[in-house]
Amino acid sequence: MPCRNSGRLRTEFRENAHVSATPGMDFGENSKGDLMKTRITDLFHIEHPIIQGGMHYVGFAELAAAVSNAGGLGIITGLTQKTPELLAKEIERCHKMTDKPFGVNLTFLPTVMAPDYPGYVSAIIDSGVKIVETAGRNPEQYLPKLKDAGIKVIHKCTSVRHALKAESIGCDAVSVDGFECGGHPGEDDIPNMILLPRAAEELTIPFVASGGMADGRSLVAALALGADGINMGTRFIATQEAPVHENVKQAILNATELDTRLIMRPLKNTERVLNNPAVERLREKEALLGNNIQFEDIIEEVAGVYPKIMTQGDMDAGAWSCGMVAGLIHDIPTCKDLISRIMAEAKSLIEERLTGFLDE
Ligand SMILES: Cc1cc2nc3c(=O)[nH]c(=O)nc-3n(C[C@H](O)[C@H](O)[C@H](O)COP(=O)(O)O)c2cc1C
Repeated sequence: MPCRNSGRLRTEFRENAHVSATPGMDFGENSKGDLMKTRITDLFHIEHPIIQGGMHYVGFAELAAAVSNAGGLGIITGLTQKTPELLAKEIERCHKMTDKPFGVNLTFLPTVMAPDYPGYVSAIIDSGVKIVETAGRNPEQYLPKLKDAGIKVIHKCTSVRHALKAESIGCDAVSVDGFECGGHPGEDDIPNMILLPRAAEELTIPFVASGGMADGRSLVAALALGADGINMGTRFIATQEAPVHENVKQAILNATELDTRLIMRPLKNTERVLNNPAVERLREKEALLGNNIQFEDIIEEVAGVYPKIMTQGDMDAGAWSCGMVAGLIHDIPTCKDLISRIMAEAKSLIEERLTGFLDE
């Protein structure tokens, strides 16, 4: 099979001073967090190939602006805003906090009563946002309107076949979510060590690695496997600017890589969540009812729980998305410190550790 995108790293460093490595991490005298140029930084006009994925009740203007101000790509979560009008206001708030590019996530849910997607699309276009992250169902019917408005679309998917579909309908990039990811990993259970190089073998458009990404090691590994950057969810929740209750950040810090669970598999809507009493209750129902389980059986554990968890810090109110990467999260830095640290660590890994292996 021809390998269109894995031969070499499409990456080069551009010297950029003023960004220091995080205290406690010593990269030596040359430890500047340098800019990295990839097809993703070029596509979105950002400094670093690091994206903050849309997150329900987390992706408000504060977080999106902080990530974008730090040189990454921040993303507002569209459906967290109850109406298109409220989304327009949230975008306006974000415009006031940053003059850097940021995006909006539009998640196409498998529901009978669909949200007002045409309204959300119009709100995004009218607000001047130039980047949209789509997720969930096929976004094809909204692409012409988005593309006509000059919007770049990155579609999040969990399989090579869905990534190829996204490419064929005209998406500009894809975010490839491995089995490790917080949120919805799909039903194939392919981890990123396999999924990313498979995506590289098949895709022509650029893609970012999503799921399990936390630090410079993740970024370098993702680039080595053929991606042009990384997308992070859980890691960005444990940052100073993430506008969620402190209990959420502490829960992530306290969690290990063993503490997530998969729920809703019998409903073919699998979600990776942090374990808690509500999740255990839900899983008992799944074990009891098997494939006969209906959404109504677990409504108490999953419906409308996000505001209680993310805003009020009631950590046992229900099931909430969290990635295995929680095991790699040990602090609550600012977005700027986090991104600078990732870039400095990536540079050090490439220039020192990896180059050091080469036999001269
Ligand atoms: C709390 C939480 C809420 C999320 N909500 C959404 C969402 O509404 N739409 C979406 O496309 N992805 C959502 N995601 C997925 C993330 O955008 C991202 O793809 C995922 O977290 C990557 O895996 P990681 O957590 O290992 O970094 C959510 C993830 C988390 C942790």
